[in-house]
Amino acid sequence: MSPSVLLGITGGIAAYKTPWLVRLLTQSDMDVRCVLTQAATQFVTPLTLATVSNNPVHYDMWANRDRPGVEHIALADEVDVAVIAPATANVIGKLAAGIADDLLTTVFTAVRCPVLICPAMNVNMFRNPIVQRNINTLRELGWNILEPAAGWLACGWVGEGRMPEPEVIAEEIRRLLTPADLAGERILVTAGPTEEPLDPVRFITNRSSGKMGVAIAQRAAMRGADVTLVAGPLKVQAPQWVTHIPVRTAQEMYDRVMERFPDVDVVIKAAAVADFRPGNSTLEKLEKSNIRPTIEVVPNPDILMTLGGLKRDDQVLVGFAAETTDVLRKGRGKLKAKNLDMLVLNDVTKPGAGFDCDTNIVRFLHRSGEEEQMDIMPKEQVADLILDRVKALRKGLVS
Ligand code: PMT
Repeated sequence: MSPSVLLGITGGIAAYKTPWLVRLLTQSDMDVRCVLTQAATQFVTPLTLATVSNNPVHYDMWANRDRPGVEHIALADEVDVAVIAPATANVIGKLAAGIADDLLTTVFTAVRCPVLICPAMNVNMFRNPIVQRNINTLRELGWNILEPAAGWLACGWVGEGRMPEPEVIAEEIRRLLTPADLAGERILVTAGPTEEPLDPVRFITNRSSGKMGVAIAQRAAMRGADVTLVAGPLKVQAPQWVTHIPVRTAQEMYDRVMERFPDVDVVIKAAAVADFRPGNSTLEKLEKSNIRPTIEVVPNPDILMTLGGLKRDDQVLVGFAAETTDVLRKGRGKLKAKNLDMLVLNDVTKPGAGFDCDTNIVRFLHRSGEEEQMDIMPKEQVADLILDRVKALRKGLVS
């Protein structure tokens, strides 16, 4: 059955973005019910919301006179996640004080599912200590608060108070709908390529977009893990909810990963680390006439190999291998040489596998000798399968 989302809309200018939010949610197979304050109907029409949600829209406490007082309880009972976007200072204040004097505040006082509040207002209203106190009251009661973004506000001020973009809110809703089966796990993921400078304008790199590692970080965070993402230059956006540590070179990645390794339970190394760097990089741009036909290179530290040597018994280490020839033999060799619990092997010559695409075709090689070949599937799905195995491995180690 489709998850059910109750979307409360209050009277702020950002309400004009809510039909797009509804569209994003319905495209993700969610059943969306909208409830508006009277003020919200000035900014976005119930007809628009009814059309995009394909559901009746509710904004009048007394509309359903046959069953007075029942509609709000029915709306509150039937939802998996309840969201208010945008949430005005007025409605936040009422909910924090337990005031239920219209349909929206009455419904939200009755909900028992996870709640997400997206405050949106003028920057000075947002910074007002009374508003901050009310937001904190809701937070302390276990409601989720999505901090507003900063930027130009409709009132002409610049500062925090903008409603986050519908894509960001939709991701947060997806997270609230996902069971937190990795809660308590501290997972470090590496992603993307590294760049090894020859001079200030030229570098050696590879074709990694970061999609595979970002998908793992994203799904791990959605499933409740505490995620650190150490990533080279990404072609995709780092996910919400993770601690993103951007790096450029293999040496920087090595340093950042080593600092954090003692404090994590799991490392998943999806990054495509450059094995070599130019031996004599310069601080000034090389003149064309000074570039020699051969570039001398020196080896970079092998981060995964070092981790394999340092690994504690309660830590899980997952490596990747991107191969083009003699794939299985090389993958098995890396699993052993780097002392891994599991290796994710991809033959990057196969269409739909490896670099820069949205899918992957992988084979899991386990320390036990067991191997699992997966079909082509989206990288998010590969990520979930890896995380399922990580969860089982951790369970075996710590229980
Ligand atoms: O980023 P995408 O565009 O989504 O592409 C995904 C991917 C192809 C990059 C990913 O699926 C993948 O295979 N990542 C590992 C690529 C790689 O560097 O493979 P490798 O066989 O060279 O390295 C083996 C393992 O050692 C990897 O886990 C790598 O992170 C690690 N390594 C390698 C060299 C080095 N100096 N330090 C390392 O830690």
